[in-house]
Amino acid sequence: MTQDDKKRQVAEAALSYVEDDAVIGVGTGSTVNFFIAKLAAIRGRIAGAVPSSEASAALLRRHGIPVVELNSTGDLGVYIDGADEATSRRMLIKGGGGALTREKIVAAASRRFICLVDDSKLVDVLGRFPLPVEVIPMARGYVGRQLVRLGGRPELRMGVTTDNGNLIIDVHGLTILDPGELEAEINQIAGVVCNGIFARRPADLLLVGRDSGVEKI
Ligand code: 5RP
Repeated sequence: MTQDDKKRQVAEAALSYVEDDAVIGVGTGSTVNFFIAKLAAIRGRIAGAVPSSEASAALLRRHGIPVVELNSTGDLGVYIDGADEATSRRMLIKGGGGALTREKIVAAASRRFICLVDDSKLVDVLGRFPLPVEVIPMARGYVGRQLVRLGGRPELRMGVTTDNGNLIIDVHGLTILDPGELEAEINQIAGVVCNGIFARRPADLLLVGRDSGVEKI
């Protein structure tokens, strides 16, 4: 089974967590794109979707799914998104697609966060995938120096501006033994908008695509 087959498989499995007549949170990335395509087939069953990026908003609209502002909903019942790395404790690195800040907001505002990954993304310790950090442009150099102090090798993601008008620094070489602690510490650096560790609000359920089928963690 290819990685895309596994992504399709978890996207299909996620449909069973979509509640009738609800507004659901929808994330960003290639796995979620498969999910949006499948959601289109049952679009009459949902009231709409709050997307975590302009890219997902455009795809939802193309599929005829109403796009709803988070400010016009209360908390959402369910948020469905992918991840770049995941542990068995459902802690994540996200932001490979640059949408980490809105992803963290929609996850925070949702009662249940269901995360879709293929088995290549499971790790014992987070950090093999470079950690995305969204920064205010004028703070780029300062934040980079602080990330070096924390033991990382920061690299500016060239040519990328986030939906919020900011930059992304990818931090290489981290071994994240205490994800909750590092998440909080990086967020304290002046100029950081958000970092891609999801430990304080981890996923509630991981759906893992494997050759043998979908595993629930
Ligand atoms: C976007 C994300 C994505 O969930 C993450 O990058 C996984 O993407 P894909 O499903 O394409 O592998 O965090 O910011």
